[in-house]
Amino acid sequence: MIVEGIITTTNQDGSVNVTPLGPRVEQGWQQFILRPFQTSRTFANLVRTRQAVFHITDDVELLAAAAIDRLHHLPPLYPARSIEGHVLADACRWYALSVRSIDDSQPRAEIVADVVDHATQRDFFGFNRAKHAVVEAAILATRTAILPANDIVAQMSHLAVIIDKTGGEAEHRAFQLLREYVHEALATVVAHGVSAQRSTE
Ligand SMILES: Cc1cc2nc3c(=O)[nH]c(=O)nc-3n(C[C@H](O)[C@H](O)[C@H](O)COP(=O)(O)O)c2cc1C
Repeated sequence: MIVEGIITTTNQDGSVNVTPLGPRVEQGWQQFILRPFQTSRTFANLVRTRQAVFHITDDVELLAAAAIDRLHHLPPLYPARSIEGHVLADACRWYALSVRSIDDSQPRAEIVADVVDHATQRDFFGFNRAKHAVVEAAILATRTAILPANDIVAQMSHLAVIIDKTGGEAEHRAFQLLREYVHEALATVVAHGVSAQRSTE
């Protein structure tokens, strides 16, 4: 089964890269299969360092901003205790990962990573339709180059209703950020046939 969360990896200059990722959960949370596109910074960092920290969080505003590279300030982080990595201080749970194997035969790599340490920091908010709607909108935002523009616009309109009905302020801000990004990215696609996005899921 796939779980959506946020992965931190270390860039070549030592800075921290924060990115949403949807790995497969294996062996009762003792292993993950990460599936980053080879064009992503996350892939390059995983190949170079073979370490990462994967987080379960309900902070969809962070997830949205990280998905579209609009993270103007890094969230609070602290050094992981068992690997060279960084933990999001506000995440619900974290899993320190050590890469076991990398299959780069496809554009979307398959990286098997063992959980070498993990901890719970706080409770998960619980099911909330607006939070899930922001996750869906963030995925759409990273796919403006590969999905038909009409589909994206229709899906964003549907998600907007859920945000309005069930979201708090953070969900409204996150969705607005994504809506503006999608609007600009689709305008670029229509005008030039290319995408303004960083990479696609
Ligand atoms: C919920 C969610 C899950 C995602 N899962 C993946 C994934 O499994 N693999 C991937 O390549 N991109 C995935 N993406 C898209 C990346 O987050 C996005 O392309 C990002 O810009 C890549 O950043 P990076 O270059 O810093 O690694 C996901 C996005 C969201 C919002």
